[in-house]
Amino acid sequence: MNDVIRVNAVESLRGSLHVPGDKSGSHRALMLSALAIGESTIEGLSAGRDVAATGRIIEQLGARRSVHGSLTSVVGPEEGLRASKEPLDCGNSGTTMRLLAGLVSALPGRHILVGDESLSTRPMDRIATPLELMGSSVTGHGLRVMAPLQILGKRPLNAISYHVPMASAQVKSAILLAGLGAAGPTSVHEDVRTRSTTEDMLQRSGADIVSKDEGVGRRVTVRPGRPNPQSWSVPGDPSQAAFFAVLGCIHPDADIEIVDIDASEERCGFLRVLQRMGADLTVRASGATTSFVARSSTLLAVEISADEIPSVDEVPALTVAAAAASGTSAFRHMGELRLKESDRFEGALVLATSLGCRAWADGDDFFVEGLGSAERFSEFTIHAQLDHRMVMASAVAAIAGAGCTIDGAQTVASSYPLFFEDVSSLQ
Ligand code: S3P
Repeated sequence: MNDVIRVNAVESLRGSLHVPGDKSGSHRALMLSALAIGESTIEGLSAGRDVAATGRIIEQLGARRSVHGSLTSVVGPEEGLRASKEPLDCGNSGTTMRLLAGLVSALPGRHILVGDESLSTRPMDRIATPLELMGSSVTGHGLRVMAPLQILGKRPLNAISYHVPMASAQVKSAILLAGLGAAGPTSVHEDVRTRSTTEDMLQRSGADIVSKDEGVGRRVTVRPGRPNPQSWSVPGDPSQAAFFAVLGCIHPDADIEIVDIDASEERCGFLRVLQRMGADLTVRASGATTSFVARSSTLLAVEISADEIPSVDEVPALTVAAAAASGTSAFRHMGELRLKESDRFEGALVLATSLGCRAWADGDDFFVEGLGSAERFSEFTIHAQLDHRMVMASAVAAIAGAGCTIDGAQTVASSYPLFFEDVSSLQ
């Protein structure tokens, strides 16, 4: 794909899609399989570059990986994973770096974790602090401990009880993975319930793990041990589905079905937000997965708090929905957006403004005065800044509106290499 691409508006969108396998589930399936003794299989692994980075790294640490069509096989070594002499290249993937930091903290030896330009500016102090309490040493650049990271792992680690000061599934997961190699039970408390992918998958792997809701938060306790090998089947990624939900709702002539995404409550907040905006959405839950149909809708402004979309991955897409709605939408407590692959707080304001909206910030809140319809969007140019979600949010606005030019569009491959092909299949 070229660095600079033109995305045109299209007349109508019809069809049904499977979005790629959930990125969170894919990283964890690879890591847990590598920690287990013997062969695990993974069906539906994300084909994005982020997950490919995790796949290469578990091989460097001693697991064997092979791909047979849509099935990935991972064999975890009986003697356990071991430090690699070569740097572990996490590319653009914050999940790889943060979860891996937890995993390698319990592997004796020296580990070097590197990332691309975007990942090398993201704060790793949030994992360094608890992992150092557990007895590993995590060093990086500056006060915020940015990559390249050097981690000196040891075993066993200290068992700790830790209150995660921000809503972050990555931090929670890093501690839980390190806890598998601790000397006793490790507890993590979060004030907001973030995605429970790690806990759920550890439980399925036979780990001794207990998760208890406490008010609006949660406490998770894991005891040391190795996961059992599993046959994993990764559901579709809700955060990718969110782009099609918004596209279907704001496009003047659309009827888009997305099938079999992870139905977890913490991942599907975007559907509830769109429903509150008056979207024509039909949602069908069936067990652990959900499908939905999004049709052209007249949207109203909405108030969104970060708590209902923990990790805020769907905010770029919802910003585009707000831009097409009537009235002023408020996005509250969105500070975490600044720490993603790019500063998405700023990026959301730039995108809404480029579409022709008035948009402004007040502390960690931002506001978008919608235009009432995507048909009023302006044509625009955007710089993706190594942020796959900003590419897809911009494309959604352009397809429903007046087109756009995206500089850096190839970064979409971090999570969704076939995004533009999938959009084309709906035309
Ligand atoms: C993820 C957690 C989220 C999210 C990321 C994937 C995960 O990050 O933004 O895309 O798989 O645990 P935070 O935990 O830092 O909010």
